[in-house]
Amino acid sequence: RAACGAGCNSVTIAPRRRQKRLPPEGRHTMINAAITGWGKCMPPAVLSNADLSTFLDTDDEWIVSRTGMRERRVSHVPAIEMATVAAARALACAGLDAADLDLIVYGSCSNDEQVPNSASGVQVRLGARHAAAMDVNTACTSFLYGLSSAAAMIKSGAVRNAVVIGVELISPYMDWDNRGVAVLFGDGCAAVVLQASDEPIGLLGEKLGCYADARQTLRVRGMGCTYANRGLTLGDTQWDFDGQEIFKRAVHGMGEAAAEVMRKCGVAPEDIDLVVPHQANLRIIESVVKRAGLPMNKVMLTVQRYGNMSAATVPVALVEALEEGRVAPGALLLMPAFGAGLTLCAHLLRWGDRVTPLGTTDIDLPPCTKSALELVQDIRAIKAGAAQRSGGALMAPKLAETLGTLAAVSHA
Ligand code: ACO
Repeated sequence: RAACGAGCNSVTIAPRRRQKRLPPEGRHTMINAAITGWGKCMPPAVLSNADLSTFLDTDDEWIVSRTGMRERRVSHVPAIEMATVAAARALACAGLDAADLDLIVYGSCSNDEQVPNSASGVQVRLGARHAAAMDVNTACTSFLYGLSSAAAMIKSGAVRNAVVIGVELISPYMDWDNRGVAVLFGDGCAAVVLQASDEPIGLLGEKLGCYADARQTLRVRGMGCTYANRGLTLGDTQWDFDGQEIFKRAVHGMGEAAAEVMRKCGVAPEDIDLVVPHQANLRIIESVVKRAGLPMNKVMLTVQRYGNMSAATVPVALVEALEEGRVAPGALLLMPAFGAGLTLCAHLLRWGDRVTPLGTTDIDLPPCTKSALELVQDIRAIKAGAAQRSGGALMAPKLAETLGTLAAVSHA
């Protein structure tokens, strides 16, 4: 039995299926945060590499060889609708009533609106009238940062039942004319129910971090208050994206975080049953997994079918791993991720005994009447109009100067 080091949430990691030791008399039982429900909501419209090459100078061979991606989804509904369906499915899976929820955490960097927050939109749709509702934005790591936040609140006793959502609706603010980014991302959502447990299961430990010195490597111009009241059209975006630098930092950051959380929790690579990583690029995953001393047959992959869904990537992969029977009772899961910021993290999770849902729900998205390519062409047409209004202002000297000042401050 390996004891956790400092910073490992003080959970003792028990070998699988060993009988639980009773706490000594007079000592409080440690509260753990276990995943008891899971559900995903993938929009049905599929955008293939061939679709992308109808309006971009790109091809299937380049995209597959450089990223591993073959297709991705485009949503026909707002992000809150996807989040509500995923959360309702997770609640049904856990056999939990929405009225018994204490907390909803909405992990995303693509909120439908800035104010009000998005978690409240899910709360009202679910009828989770007793729940607190908060958004977490650390880009692609938002679900895992949200998981840490909810688990910490459960461990402190502040809440007992939480839903943690990872959702992303990137298609409306994608810079569809930039082949360097347009081929990489997709929309999607998944959610988990996290509940207090006195079993030695759930989130065992995590490493959270951020390479803020590289925050300028990924910036979406046109979203946020910096761009308000400057004669620009909000959402008329241009992406600053240094793919090669992000790639290097991702491999380093996810690798270091994975090694650190395993070290803190006294876990060796051979103890890991399944890796559920962020999926920004197949080559990044292969490098991280090799660096962690793990074989690729222990990795859950979705990147070929869904691309990079930012905050939704890890929870969707987790849900699909469960659906495919790849999570055994008592399994030890490693979940490394990175995102804009550049935020990074790795989480270790001990699964409980149950790997099948307690229940299901009929809730679903409304039907989609358009193809993914038609949805994208609609967005491109709207953006073409917006671009005429914004002109080159997104990159105008004054704005670039402002952003330069912000970047300089962030470097200080
Ligand atoms: N189709 C065809 N050619 C392309 C495309 C495309 N879609 N995109 C770029 N190219 C070209 C480039 O113009 C370049 O051409 P050149 O040599 O004539 O200049 C050539 O392909 C090579 O480009 P590189 O940038 O060197 O390609 P690389 O092998 O580095 O792959 C990639 C690029 C896929 C973006 C890679 O760097 C990567 O995956 N980076 C990490 C991205 C990432 O993880 N982003 C997630 C951010 S997290 C978040 O929070 C959102």
